[in-house]
Amino acid sequence: MRIRIAPSLLSADFSRLDREVESVGEADMLHLDLMDGVFVPNLSFGPPVIASLAGHTDLELDAHLMTTRPDLLYEDLQRAGVSRVSVHCEACLHLHRELMTIRSLGMSPGVALNPATPLSAIEEALSWVDFVLIMSVNPGFGGQKFIPESLDKIRRLRKITPEMEIAVDGGVNTENAVELVRSGATTLVAGSSVFSYPDRRAAISDLRDSCLKGA
Ligand code: DX5
Ligand code: ZN
Repeated sequence: MRIRIAPSLLSADFSRLDREVESVGEADMLHLDLMDGVFVPNLSFGPPVIASLAGHTDLELDAHLMTTRPDLLYEDLQRAGVSRVSVHCEACLHLHRELMTIRSLGMSPGVALNPATPLSAIEEALSWVDFVLIMSVNPGFGGQKFIPESLDKIRRLRKITPEMEIAVDGGVNTENAVELVRSGATTLVAGSSVFSYPDRRAAISDLRDSCLKGA
C-alpha cells in the first residue's frame, strides 16, 4: 500500500492559513482537526474556515472530528469540499448511523480511536469504514509526545485487517516513521513535524524518505 503524508493544519500559523495550506502542496492530503472544547479541551476551526481554504489547495481534505456531535457538521463539511471524515468511536453512540451518513453524502468514512480505547471497540465497524485513525497522543493538541504502545496497537490492527488504510495521528516524526510503517501504518498525520520547519517541502520529503526505509 502506498504511504501517504497528511500534514495537520493545527500546527500551522493561524494568522496566515492560506499561505500555510499552499506550503504543503507536496503532501498527499490535508488533515483538518475540528474540536468543540468538550470532547477535547481545545477549539480549532470549523467548516467556514475550511471552505475558505479549499480554493488554496488541490489536496484531498481529511476532516478529523473531535466533537461530541459530529453529525452537526457533515453537510457543511461536504459543502466545504471535504472528502474524508473520521469520527471518534468514543463520541458516537450510534457509530453505524454516523458512518452511513458520511458515506451517503459522498465522503469517505473513517473511525478514530483514542490511545486508551481497545481495538475491540471498532471490530464491528471495520466493514463500514474506509480507514482507521489510530491516535498516538490524547487528542486536542499538536506537539505532544508519541505514545509508544501505539505501535503494537497498529501491528494488532494490521493483523486483523490486512487491506485497511491505517492512519496514525500524534507525535509522528522522522524518528518513528520507519517503525510506524513497518507496523502497518499507511497514512502518517504530521503536524509539528511539518509546520515547525520553515521548508515544508523538505519536511515532507524527509518524512517520505523515512517511510521508505520502513517499507
Ligand atoms: C491532535 C490532532 C493531531 C495533531 C497532530 O489532537 O488530532 O492531528 O495536529 O499534531 P502533531 O503531529 O504535532 O502531534
Ligand atoms: Zn488529527
